[in-house]
Amino acid sequence: MTQRFPIPRYPTGWFQVCWSDELKVKEAKPLQAFGRDLVMFRTESGEARVLDAYCPHMGAHLGHGGVVEGESVKCPFHAWQFDGTGKCTDLPYANKIPAKAEIKAWHVHEHSGLVLVWHDIDDRPPLWHTPEFPELTSDDWSEPVRRTWRFRSHNQEMGENVVDIAHFKYLHGMLQVPPAVAEGREHIFHMETPTYMKSGHGDTEGTLVTNSYGFGVTTNHFEGFVGTLCVGNVIAVDDDFVEVRFTFAVKKMGGADVTRGIGKAFVAEISRQLEQDIPVWENKIYLEKPIFCDGDGPFTKYRRWGKQFFPDWYRKRALEAWRSEREARPEFRPTEK
Ligand code: FES
Ligand SMILES: [Fe+2]
Repeated sequence: MTQRFPIPRYPTGWFQVCWSDELKVKEAKPLQAFGRDLVMFRTESGEARVLDAYCPHMGAHLGHGGVVEGESVKCPFHAWQFDGTGKCTDLPYANKIPAKAEIKAWHVHEHSGLVLVWHDIDDRPPLWHTPEFPELTSDDWSEPVRRTWRFRSHNQEMGENVVDIAHFKYLHGMLQVPPAVAEGREHIFHMETPTYMKSGHGDTEGTLVTNSYGFGVTTNHFEGFVGTLCVGNVIAVDDDFVEVRFTFAVKKMGGADVTRGIGKAFVAEISRQLEQDIPVWENKIYLEKPIFCDGDGPFTKYRRWGKQFFPDWYRKRALEAWRSEREARPEFRPTEK
């Protein structure tokens, strides 16, 4: 494995694995996340559950042919059943269930039409929850529109996009981006930027409020003449790739056509910006010590805040691996004078 970043790969936090309606009642399917093979299933009572994929009996993948029965998923190989806590609940051809017949269960939080899974490299239970996003299910807001992307990047690299005020002008072509107010509050990084938005009816002035709940979930709320919300989710699926899911909604105004027009322009604008970022992210390197100038956004504040999402031992290990890899590459060796 190559260590592309001087920071660890899989942060602590909540990460979206699908939208609620992508996991039907009694459905079981494979899931790749955090460099692991998992299975997600929805029980008969409607609970979304996530377990490690491989059956502890003889290693079958529960997401390939597993069947949901009641509150458990049944292995396709010899019919052992596991509930949402990972406990073996039925073993049809034995008198006694072996004590070790258990799989790691993942914490799932489903709300606002999103299925979120908690990841922590040290296996701590959830340290916080994300708030619900009532706009995504409200009659006063448009039916949410979704987009997904998959490319080579890192949660923190992408998170820093929010504080990178200079790139909004030079990469995304915005006329100007006034200085933002930013603060890290526990697991929430909050930022407010007076800005404008292309609404489909010209540009409207307003305030963009961005809240990042760890590195997984970020909301962009624009409030002005129009109201829009983009809930962005980034999950590291393996050592190279991330998956991005955006859920967009627009506050209804002036009839369905107007709302639809604003919504379309909004989705197109945010998607355009992301697609401009992707080739930069896929090809850049992440510098441990960039040369920041006084016009750059509050990166230092953001990076300090972000440290909490990786335990110290994990950060140390990643940094050492990254440094030794760089030392082996001539282009990164200090030049001799
Ligand atoms: S491998 Fe799953 S029950 Fe045997
Ligand atoms: Fe960007």
